[in-house]
Amino acid sequence: MSRIAYVNGRYVPHKHAFVHIEDRGYQFGDGVYEVVLVLNKNLIDFEGHFTRLKRSLTEISLDLPISEMVIKLIFNRLVKSNLITNGLIYLQVTRGVANRAHQFPSAVPPALVVTAKPTLITKTVDGKKAITTTDQRWDRRDIKTIQLLPNCIAKEEAVKRGAFEAIMVMRDGTITEGASSNLWMVDKENQLVTRHASNAILNGITKLSLTNIASIGQYKIVERSFTVEEAKEAKELFVTSATAIVTPIIQLNDDLIADGNVGPVALALRSAYLNNVG
Ligand code: PDD
Repeated sequence: MSRIAYVNGRYVPHKHAFVHIEDRGYQFGDGVYEVVLVLNKNLIDFEGHFTRLKRSLTEISLDLPISEMVIKLIFNRLVKSNLITNGLIYLQVTRGVANRAHQFPSAVPPALVVTAKPTLITKTVDGKKAITTTDQRWDRRDIKTIQLLPNCIAKEEAVKRGAFEAIMVMRDGTITEGASSNLWMVDKENQLVTRHASNAILNGITKLSLTNIASIGQYKIVERSFTVEEAKEAKELFVTSATAIVTPIIQLNDDLIADGNVGPVALALRSAYLNNVG
């Protein structure tokens, strides 16, 4: 079976899925994206992702070429045609094809690309290592832009140092988030602490969803910034995203978190999340 992608109104074999070299996404990183988890053939948190997509588009003055209903139809069709049970949908909207000039072109239709791929989703997961690195991004990290070079550099550093994620730190010493995830800690009082929504982070849809699930349970959630020193003293650390779901972090740079074992809260939240949304 060949993989199928959606490119500007057409379903095409993945290997023939192309956009023009003067697409502004390619030349300027002028576009936004979403990654949506698929569990048991269901789109997870679709409404949340769609709401954030619309917001990202508004913030860069780009109109969505099609309706929410049609996007959902495209997603479901790709889940079906790519025979996906568990996996990920990737959607990207760029400002389309125009002669290269920095200012926005007028009367150019945006380009919409959607791909799907299967992934392995497990109930439990091993604890991972993370490193800390300087957050080198711009001031609008709340926009889910495809301009991800600082994130890629951070992740590359993490992988080179044998780590799963790079935790990015601002000049004021506070942690923003992971290169492709949000960071949480379980503090001494067993509170769940994660950074509050602002322009400093991408407000994760998994984070929002988990906040709702966790607050129904026995957990107290505190949304505030915290430092690397606080993170190292945490009882547990974990990251969330559509791809990581809830993944425990048991080592930060050379320091083990607590005793270096996966803690009960991260695993409980991972299975609560999978049970609630799946
Ligand atoms: N990234 N912060 C950043 C910088 C991210 O790139 C992501 C997700 C998140 C978590 O957002 P969500 O819970 O909505 O997935 C936070 C996706 C998965 C990616 O770029 O592949």
